[in-house]
Amino acid sequence: MGIVFNFCENYDFLSNRAADIVGELLKAKPDCVLGLPTGSTPIGMYKKLIEKNKSGEIDFSKVTTFNLDEYYPIKKTSEQSYYKFMFDNLFDGININPDNINIPDGEAENAEIESLNYERKIDRAGGLDLMILGIGPNGHIGFNEPGKFLLPHTHVADLTEDTIKANARFFDSESEVPKTALTMGMGSIIAKSKKILLLVSGESKKAAFDKFYGEAKITADNPSTFLYLHGDVIVLSDIS
Ligand code: PGA
Repeated sequence: MGIVFNFCENYDFLSNRAADIVGELLKAKPDCVLGLPTGSTPIGMYKKLIEKNKSGEIDFSKVTTFNLDEYYPIKKTSEQSYYKFMFDNLFDGININPDNINIPDGEAENAEIESLNYERKIDRAGGLDLMILGIGPNGHIGFNEPGKFLLPHTHVADLTEDTIKANARFFDSESEVPKTALTMGMGSIIAKSKKILLLVSGESKKAAFDKFYGEAKITADNPSTFLYLHGDVIVLSDIS
């Protein structure tokens, strides 16, 4: 099957379509395992999923989730932690069992051990039925940043200057953005996800998306291009 590109009229359309794809999976497999992203892009989809859950259309009680990444180090209670983001934007609004929520631990004493354990937890869950991803303005996926090479498994990543700048909008100042993070690697994402849904929204993603869609060359300069190695990817984009 490879990659299927779906161009959406606008962000609302993209969010509805994404929530419908997740909703259909939940109906077909109530105990499915989801990989989840943070960032501005998935917020619309999360709102629709909360609506669908509240109206009784979908049920999260048996669903397991694994988040893609988390700053390191960071306190769970920090305003900017992805832990807090997920509870504020999704988990507090749905009937998920908190025991089934997995997010890389930004408070872990040892980041390498946490990375290894996280990878094993995904394996024990049987992998991810659907991994939902966003893309950074520099083509990053999670904190797999452009560079000479990529690390395949969950690991501690150094944030690039581009990403620190892009994420500074959520902090009081650029200097407060953590310089490292825990992230699933592109190898884990590709090998452990049965299906991938990539959400691309907003003009700031145009350059990265043009490289991904237009050039379609697999290169560590644009980690998103590694998705071409996966057999079942849906891309929803509101960029024309
Ligand atoms: P955004 O971030 O959805 O906030 O644009 C996506 C990303 O950087 O991966």
